[in-house]
Amino acid sequence: MSKVSLEVNGQVHSLTLDTRTTLLDALREHLHLTGSKKGCDQGQCGACTVTVDGRRVNSCLTLAVMQQGHKITTIEGLGTPRSLHPMQAAFVKHDGFQCGFCTPGQICSAVAMLDEIKAGIPSHATVNLTQRELCQR
Ligand code: FES
Repeated sequence: MSKVSLEVNGQVHSLTLDTRTTLLDALREHLHLTGSKKGCDQGQCGACTVTVDGRRVNSCLTLAVMQQGHKITTIEGLGTPRSLHPMQAAFVKHDGFQCGFCTPGQICSAVAMLDEIKAGIPSHATVNLTQRELCQR
């Protein structure tokens, strides 16, 4: 067991956790922030995606103790039912929910992806990587 301090959605939480506790389990089971979903629990589905210091993270693949000192944002921290984040509003407007289970992860991922593009970080959604891939074919 270890004392862990996590800053989630702008609020600092002090927890005592088994050091093997994933960030996802800390969020869901200890902080009761159940917006992040456990789908595959092995890094494949993205239902658990949150942002850590603005970067996308599969919260099922990282330990809570590793995230001390970082700013964690979950779907609960993006907007509220009365004041949706623009990405949440876009999902509503364009009916982007499918079954809804992984929607929080998709929204967190989409928000961070746009921030990553703004920051100049290469991705498959930007020309710099797609052109490189075309050159390698
Ligand atoms: Fe599927 Fe984390 S639960 S990637």
